[in-house]
Amino acid sequence: MIKIMFVCLGNICRSPMAEFVFKDLVQKEKLESKFIINSAATSNEERGNPVHPGTQKKLQQHGISSAGKTAIQLTKDDYENYDYIIAMEKANLWGIRCIVGNDDKHKVSRLLDFSNNPRDIADPWYTGNFDQTYIDIYEGCTSLLMYLKQHYNL
Ligand code: 4NP
Repeated sequence: MIKIMFVCLGNICRSPMAEFVFKDLVQKEKLESKFIINSAATSNEERGNPVHPGTQKKLQQHGISSAGKTAIQLTKDDYENYDYIIAMEKANLWGIRCIVGNDDKHKVSRLLDFSNNPRDIADPWYTGNFDQTYIDIYEGCTSLLMYLKQHYNL
């Protein structure tokens, strides 16, 4: 089982979008039994809150539901329980380190580092632009899945 935790600041916009886009890709490839996929926040600002309406709407446009998801905060135990801790942007790497400590097992990375064009995922919080966030996340998730399929011979 490959265990993946997507992480952003609040767990209401970017990381839930990555969680549900990646789940959808995995389902389309009939690989659900191989994965555990989750998302969490570095902050506790939004804990318990539902997915942001902008992310919900964008996912719905692509036929993807995020029903039932509420924001959770990353824990130190998650570092042991997941194989990949995947940040949306560089700033999250610092937040993750504050919670889990040193990344001795090299589990922490940034989503678009799996792509041919490493960069941060566009943050929709101040711009309200969930379209660019979706484009970035789709690129990151397809690149990540391609990497994992090769790495684990799936
Ligand atoms: P997310 O978006 O980290 O993609 O879930 C944000 C959520 C909350 C805040 C910023 C970004 N905030 O400042 O509370």
